[in-house]
Amino acid sequence: MQANANQNGRGLWGSRFAFVLAAAGSAVGLGNIWGFPTAAAQNGGGGFVLIYILCILLVGLPVMLAEMVIGRAGEKNPVGALQHLKPGTPWYLVGALGVVTGFVILSFYTVIAGWTVFYFIQAAGGALTVPEGEDSAAYFSEMFGSMTANPGYEILFVAVFMIATISIVAAGVRKGIERSVKIMMPLLFLLLALLIARSVTLEGAGAGLSYYLVPDFGAINREVIVMALGQAFFSLSLGMGVMITYGSYLRKEECLPSSAGYVVTADSLIAIFAGLIVFPVIFFMAATQGANADELVAEGPGLVFVIFPQILSELPGGAAATTIFGAAFFLLLAIAALTSAISLLEVVTAHFVDDWKIPRKKAAWGLGAIIFLLAIPSALSMGAVDWLSADGVFGVSFFDLLYMLTFQLFLPLGALGLAVFVGWAWGLKKASEAIQTGTPNFRLEKLWQFMIRYVAPIAIAVILAAQFIDIFGGDADEKPAEEPARTEPAEGA
Ligand code: PHE
Repeated sequence: MQANANQNGRGLWGSRFAFVLAAAGSAVGLGNIWGFPTAAAQNGGGGFVLIYILCILLVGLPVMLAEMVIGRAGEKNPVGALQHLKPGTPWYLVGALGVVTGFVILSFYTVIAGWTVFYFIQAAGGALTVPEGEDSAAYFSEMFGSMTANPGYEILFVAVFMIATISIVAAGVRKGIERSVKIMMPLLFLLLALLIARSVTLEGAGAGLSYYLVPDFGAINREVIVMALGQAFFSLSLGMGVMITYGSYLRKEECLPSSAGYVVTADSLIAIFAGLIVFPVIFFMAATQGANADELVAEGPGLVFVIFPQILSELPGGAAATTIFGAAFFLLLAIAALTSAISLLEVVTAHFVDDWKIPRKKAAWGLGAIIFLLAIPSALSMGAVDWLSADGVFGVSFFDLLYMLTFQLFLPLGALGLAVFVGWAWGLKKASEAIQTGTPNFRLEKLWQFMIRYVAPIAIAVILAAQFIDIFGGDADEKPAEEPARTEPAEGA
């Protein structure tokens, strides 16, 4: 049923709109609604947000366009595309790193995605309504804890989510994605707007908003900058070749710069929105529910799974509203995660289909099964199995180990490789020509060239180098992920 095919017989998007939807579907996901607020809370609030925005504009946007043009000109997955553009050179290794990164990210991503499925079921069953007389902070922490401590649940929901992801990739990416993103994104925007309207009118909201939006320059340090850059790549799906792979299914006459602009805008807005909900609620819970903000933040990956149920249970309309909006919210979140997970599995699958000539169905199911196996230790590292959890693996949990590895190493390294590839190896002239087939007067050409050749690679390299010096230079102040951030609102209760 491939209505369109390019000269290699690979599928093509039905329209540019379909491509933008798929790319935005990849970008918008758990990284925005779960990852961004958590990282901001753990890294000092407003200062992190400021650095994050700078990373998006100075590095994210130029690299997004670079990946798209590599894909469209290279007409393949990241390995094949780089081989095609620079045959006989080792550049394809940057693509190979991307394929490996896809494996790793998807393995821990499905764990969080599995939680959204669990919460959808809880919400639909009315469990988000706090029983009369119970303390909501304790109630929601307990709900989260009982899920993560249960090995059966953890693995079951990962399996459910993986099977959904694999089925769509096995059928070919186009069919599933377009429709789900077209409906999901506007609904997600609406629902978030509604939750923002509620969150900013809660007691304590003002303090939450200023913690989130007013940068505290004193709190910006190397670690904050590293996390902001990693978060920017993760949230935009950059540094591992998703946009290369998706770009490879795009026609030459479509406009890339505006596509990149739309995707980055949608992604950033949704992340910023999520923060506008999460921070007021943290401070509200501290002020009224007997919660301790530092303890909430120290929940790490669990933070937003306590915060969102809380705001959902504060909606006017009581239990009915909580059930309806709660189920809708977690369903949308699960779909957003699905469209991102699809893109991760697609990169890996496309490589084996293009370069190893393995049939798509076989590749998707086989690779998906391997990723599922790798997901199991991550799933069990949230408390279900002690030696995988907390500080059991090199001082962190197994999940945190993979998460840190991708954020602090794989994604920045991949993005650096791609920026240098476009800026120096393949060359700005060829890259610009490839953009111009769809954008005859690319007005920001000179600016983009400057950014991709100098600004982006230098910024990434400096940040990576600072990390290496820290880790291998024997500096004693290096510390593991979890450091309760300093959120200290009202005395609590
Ligand atoms: N961007 C996705 C999100 O924000 C995650 C992702 C990262 C997807 C890297 C693909 C590649 O949830």
